[in-house]
Amino acid sequence: MSLLQVENLTVRYGAIEALRHISFSVNEGEIVTFVGSNGAGKTTTMRTLSGLVRASAGKIRFKGVGIDTLASHQIVKLGLVQSPEGRLVFPDLSVKENLLLGAFARPASNGELQHELEHVFALFPRLKERINQDAHTLSGGEQQMLAIGRALMAKPALLLLDEPSLGIAPLLVQQIFQKIVELNKKQGTTILLAEQNARMALKIAHRAYVLEVGEIVQQGVAADLLNDERLQKAYLGG
Ligand SMILES: Nc1ncnc2c1ncn2[C@@H]1O[C@H](COP(=O)(O)OP(=O)(O)OP(=O)(O)O)[C@@H](O)[C@H]1O
Ligand SMILES: [Mg+2]
Repeated sequence: MSLLQVENLTVRYGAIEALRHISFSVNEGEIVTFVGSNGAGKTTTMRTLSGLVRASAGKIRFKGVGIDTLASHQIVKLGLVQSPEGRLVFPDLSVKENLLLGAFARPASNGELQHELEHVFALFPRLKERINQDAHTLSGGEQQMLAIGRALMAKPALLLLDEPSLGIAPLLVQQIFQKIVELNKKQGTTILLAEQNARMALKIAHRAYVLEVGEIVQQGVAADLLNDERLQKAYLGG
């Protein structure tokens, strides 16, 4: 059974059909990526999974449970946790306060919280060095680490990452993508990654879906898609 199973999902914003009957799945232990250009529907997909946008048709099952009608905090509690596009951290709160807010949905003792914090700091040592610094004073890349770290504080079974490369220098993007791989390999966290940077995403993912104006136009093993002629022309500058 897939960890996440989505069937025939359709999402409308008024007259605009942002997603048209898309079906996809994510299995436990996988990194799955959604690649596609601006406006393809990547963020809409993530926000619908998180219960922030309601589908007009389709089914979403997570751990075998229908989550289409659940509130976002209930979805987080089940273990489906999003790190949103644009690294939405709380600018005037410290690194530590931002991280602790990530654990809001589950009751945790101080000891447990401390343990989770150490866990995040092991992955992102830079955050530990800046633990009492206000989030707005962090660099873009560090804020992205903080956004991911905050999502990890919720102990995700499935982590949704929406464009972690957005607005970040190439070298840092590489570092962050290495961390994503580390998270998946060492801790077995299952990851769904939305990216415009198709090359980077396909390099680290196991499987991929290509989204074009609300429809899945291609899917398969990421390494195969990396060598696919049509995809190279459209997304990989080849
Ligand atoms: N709240 C909204 N109201 C109306 N239209 C919306 C809304 N949010 C998104 N859309 C439209 O839905 C389509 C899909 O947008 P979405 O943000 O999902 O794309 P995306 O693939 O994440 O793009 P990007 O790579 O630029 O982040 C776009 O045409 C967008 O204009
Ligand atoms: Mg987006």
